Amino acid sequence: MSEEKEHRVSRRQFLNYTLTGVGGFMAAGMLMPMIRFAIDPVLQSQGESELVPVMDVSEITTTPQSVNFPVDQVDGWYESTVDNQALIFKDENGDVHAFSSLCKHLGCGVSWASNPAYPDQFFCPCHGGRYYKDGRNVPGTPPTAGLDVYQQEIRDGKLYLGRAVPRGGV
Ligand code: FES
Repeated sequence: MSEEKEHRVSRRQFLNYTLTGVGGFMAAGMLMPMIRFAIDPVLQSQGESELVPVMDVSEITTTPQSVNFPVDQVDGWYESTVDNQALIFKDENGDVHAFSSLCKHLGCGVSWASNPAYPDQFFCPCHGGRYYKDGRNVPGTPPTAGLDVYQQEIRDGKLYLGRAVPRGGV
């Protein structure tokens, strides 16, 4: 009989347990969405970006062309569409190349043969940066790395491009 008395829960203890349990449940219900909202972008995978169709392969020439194409971009919680530009050409083997047109010095726009003194190189007018046709930076000019290279895929006669990936310094 005395053992049974020891295990009895007083009214005060019962109220304490109940209020603690209900309060904890309500707090968790409010905090979980806030925590999820705060860390969700960090948990998103940063894998391969989506490839978008840019142009017909039949239109690609051995002379590099500047081609603009829209890309959906997600920055944290902000989604937008930006215009990317690629320098696209075929080499003598017929392989397609697509480089970013952003100069690796300070980000100006690079174009093919825009300086008559260097008719077979990419040229950046901001500080005279130059790149060979394979995208490597010309030593002694301001850029310290070659042009970024777009992830690419050819499907059904169309060139698809994804993210521009740095190739590292030369
Ligand atoms: S930004 Fe291109 S050379 Fe400086």
